[in-house]
Amino acid sequence: MLKFDFTNLFSNKVPNNITLDEVKSYENKINQIIKEIDTNRPGFVETIFSRKWIDSVLDLKDTIFQFDNLVVLGIGGSALGNIALQNTLKPLNWNFLSKEERNRKLRIFVIDNVDPDFVASILDTIDIRKTLFNVISKSGSTAEAMSNYLIARGIIETYGLDPKKHLIFTTDPEKGVLRKIANEENIKTLEIPQNVGGRFSVLTPVGLLSAYAAGINIEALYDGAKIAYSRFLKPLFENPAALIAITHYLYYNKGRNISVMMAYSNRLYHLADWYRQLWAESLGKKLDKDGNIVNVGQTPVKALGAVDQHSQVQLYNEGPDDKIITFLKTEKFNRDIKIPNVHEEEALSYLQGKYLSELLNNEQLGTESAILEHGKPSLKITFPVIDEVHVGEFFMHYELATAIAGELFNINPYDQPGVELGKKITYALMGRPGYDDHKINIEEKRIE
Ligand code: PA5
Repeated sequence: MLKFDFTNLFSNKVPNNITLDEVKSYENKINQIIKEIDTNRPGFVETIFSRKWIDSVLDLKDTIFQFDNLVVLGIGGSALGNIALQNTLKPLNWNFLSKEERNRKLRIFVIDNVDPDFVASILDTIDIRKTLFNVISKSGSTAEAMSNYLIARGIIETYGLDPKKHLIFTTDPEKGVLRKIANEENIKTLEIPQNVGGRFSVLTPVGLLSAYAAGINIEALYDGAKIAYSRFLKPLFENPAALIAITHYLYYNKGRNISVMMAYSNRLYHLADWYRQLWAESLGKKLDKDGNIVNVGQTPVKALGAVDQHSQVQLYNEGPDDKIITFLKTEKFNRDIKIPNVHEEEALSYLQGKYLSELLNNEQLGTESAILEHGKPSLKITFPVIDEVHVGEFFMHYELATAIAGELFNINPYDQPGVELGKKITYALMGRPGYDDHKINIEEKRIE
């Protein structure tokens, strides 16, 4: 089980700190929210109690393992979970290992942007004949995913290969152009449950296919998510998701409108990136559920220890009092390196003979203590080990915390109306029929 340490959030060293009594005063409200969530389980919870999604991926086993590379084409919630799973659970040099070293599992690439330099750099790296493309789009219409699909398909056809063999679409069971093409051409598909939004979809086929292709134990991810759910049904002070939500909410109301997640592990850093989308896109809202303008949301920031001690931590310690910090750490690294005894130098003797893991975890403790001395609140999540069970648990704790925080803020955490306008203007600029009005607006505003 993940270990949560909330102590420093309640310290008197933090000016205007939150208190246990303040948290307790929300107990009834939170119990009601939990009851409501458990009674009308949101799609992301329902998913983990069904075999359907894992089985749909396992059914594709023979197709997947004919290939050497899997390229995911998607963006936002249709990519960040894949990136997090890959980097957290596979060695960071996975794509550089030989097929034998990878035990015949696939190299995984995620193309989530339309920067031509980035797209080309991946397409130049892979042998198309040995590549399976997984196009992921719930709506089946997102410009970035669709343009990269068209490019991939163009290359597949240029090589004279059969698109049916090299493509799997992960999309809505009924709607969207990807579903239409799949139906017309008999392309293999995976369904995204209709009641699960993009950023909550990592434990659906969206995240499961690339994870499985890389040899990640997808059943253990679900085991971890279920552990998180069982902890969510416990009383408030034993309930990590509820405590994350209420403490962030209370500190937000005291002016801490930035939530930093600082991982002391290059692997866990990608979880902070996933969290950044979940917290921002779910909770950053103009209107509350009653239609009042509230403009709420806590800006999530990701940071990497020890690197950001030499960059961000100065600001965290001495800058504006507007942050709440979450540290991620692991008790056990997959590998460790002993610093050799090379010099008879007193200035280096404290390092020589020690392990890098010891140095990094002491740096984490040092930063956590310094941050508290500077009066900033923090919490710490410790991974006993970075494996599927703990990563699955992490995802579910944060999805549940986001759902609870949405209720506390009285906003809908599952929509994202604020991204629509930019999309429409882009469509207009690219000449998509039906979006002319937005083209006029933007052209009038442009200063040449
Ligand atoms: O969380 C979300 O809903 C978004 O980030 C979407 O995942 C993103 O916009 C991609 O959407 P789609 O999967 O429809 O292409």
